[in-house]
Amino acid sequence: MTNKLKYFVGNWKMFGDFKSIKIIYKILNFYKKSKFRRFKNKIIFCVPNTLIYLFKKKLKSKLIYIGGQNCYHKEEYGPYTGAVSPAMIKRAGAEYLILGHSENRLEGDTNLLIEKKIKLALKQKIKVIFCIGETLKEKNKGKKFYVLKKQINGSIKKNLNLKNIIIAYEPVWSIGTSKIPNANDLKKTFVFIKNYFKKKFRTQKHPVVLYGGSVNHKNISMFSFIPEIDGFLIGGASQSSKKFIDIIKNYYK
Ligand code: PGA
Repeated sequence: MTNKLKYFVGNWKMFGDFKSIKIIYKILNFYKKSKFRRFKNKIIFCVPNTLIYLFKKKLKSKLIYIGGQNCYHKEEYGPYTGAVSPAMIKRAGAEYLILGHSENRLEGDTNLLIEKKIKLALKQKIKVIFCIGETLKEKNKGKKFYVLKKQINGSIKKNLNLKNIIIAYEPVWSIGTSKIPNANDLKKTFVFIKNYFKKKFRTQKHPVVLYGGSVNHKNISMFSFIPEIDGFLIGGASQSSKKFIDIIKNYYK
């Protein structure tokens, strides 16, 4: 088994209240004592804004990081009813922030808007988990690589601190559907994203790229055979401590 750093990132979406920290405590207790700590892992929970401050305060352990899931595209304070800026999310305690999730793209987040958000989040020293992925229609038309390039080019600019951007490849047709890409396709897509990014931005290293979309304790072993995958963005299954723990266990089986 590889000793490369692997990410297990929970995306809670619109889920959770104050009591839900129990789920994270259970995962922490398991992980603290587990043999998996000899592998290099980063466990991150991206929770709703209403929970960031409390969870950050309660989780004294450095083994689990807290992140947010989206932000408004203005930096500080302003007359934007209902909006939460990257600066506010940072002050609440988030160290990571998901941006460009397809659920937010569907609600109107364009590549340009996402670009603004990425820039502002990085300025706040928040690490960005930047989501890209093709729809089923785009996949069937053979446009996957075209779409991925367009999303990368449309939201990432050369002068950014690229080391603080993690990419999450999430095929839209796979999110919440129990459908996953086949291993061959997935490997090719990861190699493509990594090489494209490295060449385009002239970075020394390949970027960190996660996979997201219907990851569960059953299909995780298939993903573990693809070394290019640096970790996972886990939606539904991250809302249960058992399911999340089983994913880690089975990944290293
Ligand atoms: P899912 O969601 O694991 O429930 O498919 C993944 C995501 O939306 O990040």
